[in-house]
Amino acid sequence: MEVYKAAEDSWLLKEAILAEDLKGKNCLDMGTGSGIQAMAMLEGGAKNVTAVDINPNAIKASKKKNSNVDNITFFEGDLFKFLHNNPAEKFDLIAFNPPYVPSEEIKWKDTDGGERGREVIDVFLEEFERALAKKGVLLLLVSSHNNEKEIMGVLNKKGFVSQIILEKKLFFEKLFVIRSER
Ligand SMILES: C[S@@+](CC[C@H](N)C(=O)[O-])C[C@H]1O[C@@H](n2cnc3c(N)ncnc32)[C@H](O)[C@@H]1O
Repeated sequence: MEVYKAAEDSWLLKEAILAEDLKGKNCLDMGTGSGIQAMAMLEGGAKNVTAVDINPNAIKASKKKNSNVDNITFFEGDLFKFLHNNPAEKFDLIAFNPPYVPSEEIKWKDTDGGERGREVIDVFLEEFERALAKKGVLLLLVSSHNNEKEIMGVLNKKGFVSQIILEKKLFFEKLFVIRSER
């Protein structure tokens, strides 16, 4: 499995991460890929970063690249399964640039998101709350193909206040960064 190379979506989410006050914070980079968001979190002053990816090659490459950085912890696995090691851990910031491209079947987990690109996003939306600190912030990148308003509706029903803080129009879709907090 190839490792996702940073692109427009990555840069948009990175911009949102760098706009947060992360000094001394515990951050989670879900679906780390090349590690671009984990590095942005450290650049923003995060104390600790956890980087998770289902793609073993992403974890291998990021670990190698960051072997001299001791405040990133890497986990290979599906979404929040890594928490079974430490179920009480809470993050001040969770950022996710998910596989959001609509696809008939999920062949390339980096980008294929199944029907409406929502397969992984919907599971993430069900699970992220238990890992988010009380005053924590969620930054989620989505595409216009995913129905961003519906996603914000799901977050709002859970008691979050959500807004689109960044957007970028591409040729065939629009990308959004949704920022949510309780
Ligand atoms: C669009 S890429 C984003 C990579 C990187 N964060 C960036 O911004 O460039 C999506 C990443 O999510 C990972 N991923 C897909 N499904 C996942 C899952 N269920 N649990 C954890 N990571 C997953 C993919 O392997 C891929 O690295």
